[in-house]
Amino acid sequence: MPATQTFPMPERHRPRPHAAPWWIGYLLINPLRRLLQDPERMLRPHVAPGRTVLEVGPGMGYFTLPIARMVGRHGRVIAIDCQERMLETLARRAATAGLDRTVTTQTCRPHSLGVGRLADAVDLVVAINVVHEAPDPERMIGEMARTLRPGGRLLLSEPRGHVGRDMFLWQYGLCREAGLEACDWPRLTGQRSVVMAKSATADRRG
Ligand SMILES: C[S@@+](CC[C@H](N)C(=O)[O-])C[C@H]1O[C@@H](n2cnc3c(N)ncnc32)[C@H](O)[C@@H]1O
Repeated sequence: MPATQTFPMPERHRPRPHAAPWWIGYLLINPLRRLLQDPERMLRPHVAPGRTVLEVGPGMGYFTLPIARMVGRHGRVIAIDCQERMLETLARRAATAGLDRTVTTQTCRPHSLGVGRLADAVDLVVAINVVHEAPDPERMIGEMARTLRPGGRLLLSEPRGHVGRDMFLWQYGLCREAGLEACDWPRLTGQRSVVMAKSATADRRG
């Protein structure tokens, strides 16, 4: 993508943001999903042992538990969702899997992740199938970017069924406005995905 190109919000794709109903969370943790979306294969290139990962919109933790195994006992996963019910089930599943020391959950408001305390503290933000549900994607992306340490990365991945190319490019433009640059465009089944990096020499942003 040309570094100077801008991507306006496409009018015909203007999102009607709403959080997925809590019961969708159960469908999303169905093991059959692995046939198309294997979390290990999707995330292994981006997650290393000992890392701090912020997952936004984890639902009931389809990706969270595999990420927790990948970061290992010296890493941590902070899972932030606006629906308490999703996080209750996620926390129960993490405990059953013996991962409750690695995974912490935090409820947020739909308009703000409330992650000020994590500024420059996160190695990787994982945002899969969530930004199109947010009422304020600009703010969500800005907040996610501020949590990244210099050199940290954001994996943004949206479902093709809900997010058209124009919408995804608009989200990508928001990432760039938040100070991130694309470093990879992974091909993940059924998804539009990009990995964005914060410059290793990035200034602290307010
Ligand atoms: C479609 S689910 C995706 C769950 C998981 N990432 C996956 O792919 O299996 C979207 C999740 O994002 C959460 N969510 C939606 N809007 C949000 C917001 N503004 N802030 C935080 N979480 C949000 C929903 O509650 C839900 O758990």
